[in-house]
Formats: sequence, structure tokens, C-alpha cells
Amino acid sequence: MTHPLLERGFTVTAVDESAEMLERVRGARTICGPIEDLDLGERFEAVLLASFLVHTGDSEVRRGLLRTCARHVGADGCVLFQREGADHHTDLPRERVDPSGFTVRIVSSEPVGEGVHSVRAEYEFPDAVWTQTFRARPLTDAQFAEALGEAGLRVDRCPTDDGTWVRAVAV
Ligand SMILES: C[S@@+](CC[C@H](N)C(=O)[O-])C[C@H]1O[C@@H](n2cnc3c(N)ncnc32)[C@H](O)[C@@H]1O
Repeated sequence: MTHPLLERGFTVTAVDESAEMLERVRGARTICGPIEDLDLGERFEAVLLASFLVHTGDSEVRRGLLRTCARHVGADGCVLFQREGADHHTDLPRERVDPSGFTVRIVSSEPVGEGVHSVRAEYEFPDAVWTQTFRARPLTDAQFAEALGEAGLRVDRCPTDDGTWVRAVAV
């Protein structure tokens, strides 16, 4: 997501624990490491936590991610979350064609205990298919709001009709 933001004129600090992912970033400051441990000693107008990371299966990691968001947002700034839609674990299988040409298919989501699901995804390219299995914790609106509240954040509004993006601000 860094490059579209740069194209729109934003200055971006891109954080990822994958060095290979950050090697692909051009024109932005990059920070390699776990988001949950990050403390840059700076605050930003906007902090983005995308890729449904707020749904990580590990509640402690989620708390760390949210504290990092709160630690880095300015007093008049906002945190933008990409969260799951209400039917993400029931409307299955489902797929979408990415603008860059590959198909993402969410094949299944199986409960594995303690509120966590094991999700299987397929990424279909003209010459290859990748599969990924990851753990996700669905969050009701109340659970999502409570998790944000623990970190000193509150939901402000949902900028998209499907509710998958949330604008939050400091309490
Ligand atoms: C779907 S990819 C998105 C990559 C890129 N930001 C983009 O927009 O194309 C999700 C990324 O989140 C990173 N990630 C997942 N959990 C993380 C964590 N706790 N700390 C830092 N990076 C994390 C992964 O390494 C992966 O590169």
C-alpha cells in the first residue's frame, strides 16, 4: 500500500517485520521489525493498521499492535484499521480479482478453539497458485471497540459502506 500513498503525495514510514517485503518499497522510509514492539518516539497524522492485522489470533500481539498505533498517533490524528466484514468467516468460499491481475480466494475458515479460526487462502496467478493458512480472531463490533478502548482509542466512524475500514481517534 506504500506506493499508492506516495503517488497521492503522502510521506510514508512503512513498517514490516519482513525484510523481503520492505526490499520492494521505493521512496519511503522503512522500518523492519514487529509492529507490536515499535516505538519511534514520533507521532503521525495518520497511522494505518491494514491487512486485517487487528484480527491476529494472538490477543497479546493484538494488544501490542493497538498500543503501537496509539503511541504513534498525534493528538489531532487518526488511526485507520482494515477489519474483517461481518460475513468474512461465513461467506465462503469467496474470491476477488486483485487490480494487478491475480485472484484471491478465501477457501475455508474453521474454528480451532478460544475464538480463533484457521483460514485457508489461495492466490491464483497465471503461472502459479500459492496457498496460505493463517489464524484469525473474528471480532464483533463490541469486541473491536473494547480492544481499541484498552489501548486508549475509540471508533470515530467507518469511511466505507462495507464497514471494513474504521477511523479511530485517541480517547
Ligand atoms: C498482506 S501483507 C501486506 C504487505 C504490504 N504492506 C502491502 O500493502 O502490500 C501483510 C504484511 O504484514 C506483515 N506483518 C504481519 N504481522 C506483522 C507484525 N506483527 N509486525 C510487522 N509486520 C507484520 C507481514 O510480514 C506482511 O508483509
